Amino acid sequence: MKVVLGLDLGTSGLKGVALDPKGQKLAEARAPYPLHVPRPGWTEQDPHDWARALREVLQALTVQLSQGEVVAIGLSGQMHGAVFLDREGQPLLPAPLWNDQRTAEEVRWIEEVVPRPELIRRTGNPAITGFQLPKILWLRRQHPDLFRRVYKVLLPKDYLGYLLTGSLATEYSDASGVAAMAIREKAWDEDLLGALGLSSALFPELGESHRVVGGLRPEWASVAGLKAGTPVVAGAGDNAAAAIGLGVSRYRQGVGSLSLGTSGVIFLPLEEPMADPEGRIHLFCHADGAYHLLGVTLSAAGSLEWLRGIFPEASLETLLKEAERAPLGALGLYFLPFLAGERSPYLEPRLRGAFLGLSLAHERSHLVRAVLEGVALSLGVVYEAMRSLAQAEGFLVTGGGSASDLWLSLLGGILQVPLYRVVGEEGAARGAAILAMVGGGVYQDLEAALKATRLAEVAAPQAIPEARELLSGYEAWVALFLERYRRA
Ligand code: XUL
Repeated sequence: MKVVLGLDLGTSGLKGVALDPKGQKLAEARAPYPLHVPRPGWTEQDPHDWARALREVLQALTVQLSQGEVVAIGLSGQMHGAVFLDREGQPLLPAPLWNDQRTAEEVRWIEEVVPRPELIRRTGNPAITGFQLPKILWLRRQHPDLFRRVYKVLLPKDYLGYLLTGSLATEYSDASGVAAMAIREKAWDEDLLGALGLSSALFPELGESHRVVGGLRPEWASVAGLKAGTPVVAGAGDNAAAAIGLGVSRYRQGVGSLSLGTSGVIFLPLEEPMADPEGRIHLFCHADGAYHLLGVTLSAAGSLEWLRGIFPEASLETLLKEAERAPLGALGLYFLPFLAGERSPYLEPRLRGAFLGLSLAHERSHLVRAVLEGVALSLGVVYEAMRSLAQAEGFLVTGGGSASDLWLSLLGGILQVPLYRVVGEEGAARGAAILAMVGGGVYQDLEAALKATRLAEVAAPQAIPEARELLSGYEAWVALFLERYRRA
């Protein structure tokens, strides 16, 4: 039997799965690594920790596989980070991550040199602090000595590909989150890079997600208990890979995904690149050869987790039950979920959260209800911005928060789009494995692989249509708040 491996280099750990050609899981493994915050707003990881986790996960997967032949390995991972390699392929410093905020000044400078509308027209997005390009400019400004030693800058998962194969390669989905790729041409934007005094030679070779970037090096093959030369497939950034894992692609236009994890992510496939002229929603390449829109509410289930931490005496289940009994609108209480600033649609890292409209009548249950409603409203605002570019006919919902019926009923009412839970989703590692099925020759193309591995979908509980009426009140509070932060 043919077996494929899918790896996902997450922010808290590396996850690996082994799948059979029907998409059934044969093995699973995970290895954690630390996240370093050397200064407020900085987030880093040590690429050596990733390498250690890679070894552990590959070994744990192959030990569990009693039969079958691993025919390909697919990669996915956190987007936007920067692994700075010298000529010997050694990391020169810890990798700043997707949520690192140290580059505010570089972002300002990029948009001075290349005005925002021009940047959006070329790359699909405005300059964003977390993206890779401003990190490179930061290194050049702050550590010119180190910058001179940089040979290549890789995205996190592409560093795994480099370790496994020795190839310096990337693919369009992750590369479109660098801020230096011409989104229509799917090529490094020489003019843009030239204007910033950079060369495209800093970046790895570009190509499709399902292509083989190299064969497994003998030293890694023996560590992993796999055959030397096993094809390694480029894969995709974690959001695109997770979408592939769900079958969300150009082959099912109109079906998007909505993930209620620590952050909330709305993903909508597009056939043609359509950028939001205001840059409120991201436009990236999808792993299926087309494109997608992405909207991110930074604190989604993360907001509920935060609230739960404040009431340690109550279980999450108790809190959710209380929220169900509280009335819609939580007696006029609104929660703005900007606990870690906000990406979509405001792009305002300094924004902060709030409870607004508190009165003596409010109890714990109303706070929990307001958090669920506030997060759902925030995703509603994201979808409103997206809808001007593309409409969804349905969303497949995933992530820890999707277990809550109430949350899905609120979301269904606010978005006014049918929602479905997916049985047996495995996140980005599954998508990476499906891309490996294509690169490894298990299926002749992605459409066939998606058809063969499709997961069961179950309609979410009935929507609460009245929840949509809360949108105007929520947006009024946000407008007031935004003005205050933008003036400060
Ligand atoms: C997407 C984004 C995150 C990271 C981390 O733009 O920043 O989803 O990929 O997982």
